[in-house]
Amino acid sequence: MSEINVAAVGCSLADYLYTDIDFNSDVFRKYQSRVEGDGGLSPGHLVFAGDLAKFADSDFQTIINEITGGKPFTAFNLGGPAIVALINAAQLLHGAPVKFSFFGALGRDATAGRMLEIIQRTPVRIEHYQKVSGESPCTDVLSDPNYANGKGERTFINNIGACWNYTPDMLDKSFFDADILFFGATALTPGIHDHLTALLARGKAVDTINIVTTVFDFRNEKDHPGRPWPLGESNDSFRMIDLLVMDWDEALKISGKNHFDDAFKFFIDQGVKTLIVTHGAHDFYAWSSGKLFEPLEMTAYPVCALADQIMLENPASRGDTTGCGDNFAGGVLASVAAQIAAGKKPGELKMIDACARGAASGGFACFSIGGVYREPSPGDKQAQIERFYQSYLEQLGQS
Ligand SMILES: Nc1ncnc2c1ncn2[C@@H]1O[C@H](COP(=O)(O)OP(=O)(O)OP(=O)(O)O)[C@@H](O)[C@H]1O
Ligand SMILES: [Mg+2]
Repeated sequence: MSEINVAAVGCSLADYLYTDIDFNSDVFRKYQSRVEGDGGLSPGHLVFAGDLAKFADSDFQTIINEITGGKPFTAFNLGGPAIVALINAAQLLHGAPVKFSFFGALGRDATAGRMLEIIQRTPVRIEHYQKVSGESPCTDVLSDPNYANGKGERTFINNIGACWNYTPDMLDKSFFDADILFFGATALTPGIHDHLTALLARGKAVDTINIVTTVFDFRNEKDHPGRPWPLGESNDSFRMIDLLVMDWDEALKISGKNHFDDAFKFFIDQGVKTLIVTHGAHDFYAWSSGKLFEPLEMTAYPVCALADQIMLENPASRGDTTGCGDNFAGGVLASVAAQIAAGKKPGELKMIDACARGAASGGFACFSIGGVYREPSPGDKQAQIERFYQSYLEQLGQS
């Protein structure tokens, strides 16, 4: 076994939940969107804090205070696809010779303290998680349980904050010294996302394995509606990606295709080396060129049946599906790192192991609220996931 370094950059943020917000109140209506895309609040949708502030000609904190009536938040969670995936991968590889480091930006505020308190209890290293000017990135989730005739609805305000000030030059040599680079949902860290092609190329120049995961790209969707979402400066990004993990909607939007098969073919034609596309509780699809994993034709894999069975037998075990995709990606990342650490060379990795760790992690995430599992002790998640991993292999007739 050789020691492996994984360096990750991308979205890590605070999720603040505010319950019992009345979307029919005068104060909510004051900040409600009049025309689509004007920056105002819209039940069920996400707006950027900066756009909302411009719309209301006010500052973000004043607006939040007014809407919440100054009440404190109901719940706080660490979120963001990059950190959630990385924490899962690090938890799964407890005891393995793999180091996981997160690179990114926080503000110098109370939110940063809350986020770091959670991350510090995980095996992820944060020496390169920098404090810069601006507020720590966060999503405020406003929830009205009575909206839509009692069905309830949520409204999201995302503040990129300090991440606007996180630029590619802040990714120094220590980032590119890693064996595996993980670019997680960089659409929510614009300074990195807009330079992804160059960053992937810098990795490739020193022979890194490049893994990219995606997220709904609200910024490009708003700025260029109807156009494919860019992944970096140009489509040259694709041929430098050894493994691309996305969900169904992101695959359609990034490829700019209307049909899934066309989208899948687009990424293969563009030179992506391995592709995995998830689809919630439906089958997910995997394909490998043979450059990182052994060659595999486009194959449908089921989700983890044991997770579904437990939720069916015991509805109280159900948390929410937030972070299923991020944990799935973390499981796949853990598989790549573990196989490389065990001495496998690019081209020799087993896709079945990646899919099983991904499906077990994605399924397990259904049991908790939010994406991060807070371990009572190191090794706990690894032990818990093992059962789902083994069961998944049995489900595929592979054990
Ligand atoms: N209901 C479910 N039962 C079992 N597994 C699930 C379920 N929902 C999701 N998963 C697992 O998680 C994986 C990823 O889910 P999904 O495609 O919803 O990701 P996503 O859209 O990126 O979600 P998010 O961004 O909220 O994390 C699925 O392929 C599956 O393996
Ligand atoms: Mg996702």
